[in-house]
Amino acid sequence: MSNYHIKSFDEYYHVYRKSVREPENFWEEVAEEHFLWRKKWDKVLSWDFNKPEIKWFENAKLNITENCIDRHLHIRSDKTAILWEPNDPNEPAEHITYKDLYHRVNKFANVLKSQGIQKGDRVCIYLPMIPELAVAVLACARIGAIHSVVFAGFSSTALATRINDSTCKMVITSDGSYRGSKSIDLKGIVDAALEDCPGVASVLVVKRIDSEINMKEGRDQWVQPLLDEASDICTPEIMDAEDPLFILYTSGSTGRPKGMLHTTGGYMVYTAYTFKNVFQYREDDVYWCTADVGWITGHSYIIYGPLANGATTVMFEGVPSYPDSGRFWEIVQKHKVNQFYTAPTAIRALAKEDVGLVEKYDLSSLKVLGSVGEPINEEAWHWYDNHVGKKKCPIVDTWWQTETGGIMVSPIPFVTPTKPTYATLPMPGIQPALMDENGEEVKGNQVDGRLCIKFPWPGMARSVWGDHQRFKDTYFSAFENKYFTGDGALRDEVGYYRITGRVDDVIIVSGHNLGTAPIEDAINEHPAVAESAIVGFPHDVKGNALYGYVMLKDIGEYRDRDNLRKEINQQISDKIGPIAKLDKIQFVSGLPKTRSGKIMRRILRKIASKDTANLGDTSTLLNPDVVEKIMEDVLV
Ligand code: PRX
Repeated sequence: MSNYHIKSFDEYYHVYRKSVREPENFWEEVAEEHFLWRKKWDKVLSWDFNKPEIKWFENAKLNITENCIDRHLHIRSDKTAILWEPNDPNEPAEHITYKDLYHRVNKFANVLKSQGIQKGDRVCIYLPMIPELAVAVLACARIGAIHSVVFAGFSSTALATRINDSTCKMVITSDGSYRGSKSIDLKGIVDAALEDCPGVASVLVVKRIDSEINMKEGRDQWVQPLLDEASDICTPEIMDAEDPLFILYTSGSTGRPKGMLHTTGGYMVYTAYTFKNVFQYREDDVYWCTADVGWITGHSYIIYGPLANGATTVMFEGVPSYPDSGRFWEIVQKHKVNQFYTAPTAIRALAKEDVGLVEKYDLSSLKVLGSVGEPINEEAWHWYDNHVGKKKCPIVDTWWQTETGGIMVSPIPFVTPTKPTYATLPMPGIQPALMDENGEEVKGNQVDGRLCIKFPWPGMARSVWGDHQRFKDTYFSAFENKYFTGDGALRDEVGYYRITGRVDDVIIVSGHNLGTAPIEDAINEHPAVAESAIVGFPHDVKGNALYGYVMLKDIGEYRDRDNLRKEINQQISDKIGPIAKLDKIQFVSGLPKTRSGKIMRRILRKIASKDTANLGDTSTLLNPDVVEKIMEDVLV
């Protein structure tokens, strides 16, 4: 029996028990047997959640790209590592073998070096879903540079904030990108961002859409001629297990985005281990995760986890609705995809379309279906099960976070009996706890509470870039000696977990984490706005949509409300990105506040969700009368 690949429920229990009783031994065995280390660790784990300080595989030496590429060369050199499917179905797919990937990553790594990038430097990657995105990520890892991938849907202001927060020296981008029938001027967005980023010395540009762009002398270079000149051999930088691998920004409930810092050894072990088990990947399978590499799901389960297992991982440039809403299923048929991993928001959107668009394609290759990013509602779960999986593919509802690095709670397919809307059981090594409002752990089953984790796991983030205090305050201060996830959860009668949603000011829209504060800041910058509050309300495709309550400085001055709504949304789009636009904007004469001046979002949330039968206690409000007024004017 191997710890690494669980094949029965009995085995799960056995492995889980061991992982909790002897976590160090458990992870040591996994790490020893399945990875290439240049030097073994002196100590498996040292940790202190109060500082917080977490170290896995201390003093071990490795390079993650040797594990993801080099060590596969003698057995899988001609196996497809990355199967790239372009936006336009008429453009040919690209099969990048492990050998090709090795040469491409090495060339790119040598280009980075030739541009002065060294171990520890931060490199911002702002690219669409093209092979160079994966290559650039791995090239950074090859030479020990810290990659900070910014999702290419973020605006120039959001990009600039992220570049400056981690003082990136270089930006890697493309002339533009394709998204369905549209093309987007990515380089223009980078140019605008860089007006506020004095630390960026160079920009490498990948040619994707062949558009006319501005190249700034002395700063911008096309990457292809540099790659053509570069050697395809690059000795990997030997990294310490705790050396930073990447920074990835996630929204917080307060203003600035948090640059979650992940390190090398533990992250590799954890993503590889969870990939193997959660998708039950077998040697010749074709695995497809539809996420963007700009999010953690893409980092862990398009790039690192699959490649560390020598898998074939599909990377899709386009959108599910182009050229029509059968595109996902067409790709499954075309590439005979075995494991398919997507988000509930995509499932809900596709379930609204003609079911003939699914039935038209041969989906018999599918073995496992995955879901991630937000709770999957029962209707979407059954649609996925019936129409995509034809009731023969287990659905793995995987709960995890940017901060956790990898999947934390999930069924193991063909092992854990699934239950709609339940993420079910913790992965080996994960010790969840539900906490009540008094800080006590809620024991037993059929209970709910705030979801915490009691013991470290190798994939967890180690800090917030440049702000360790914030790491402590956000995750380790709510409950003593525990990592607090920000989510609520319940545990059913057999111990299965169901994630019920955020208990903080983060709202998940179409699977994207959005903090209320940055959006409110963007709204408040509009000259007409005095104050604003945003909340989530249920939406049948997005899961949640955003509802904004906006108080104007002078109500009389702005007569054209619809125009003002457009301007406010444009403001949000410019500051953050189109994903953060509000679905509804209600102009109000005041916002309900506590005596200490805090906006009572709980009430606003109920009003926006039309759940006003029980508003709770409003007597502690400074201005209870505004609630009546807001309810009268609520947008239907
Ligand atoms: O609220 C949870 C929700 O997404 C949050 C994490 O978002 P992010 O860091 O962007 O990572 C998303 C991809 C891993 C969580 O705190 N979430 C994620 N997966 C699920 C989920 N909620 C319910 N069920 C899930 N399977």
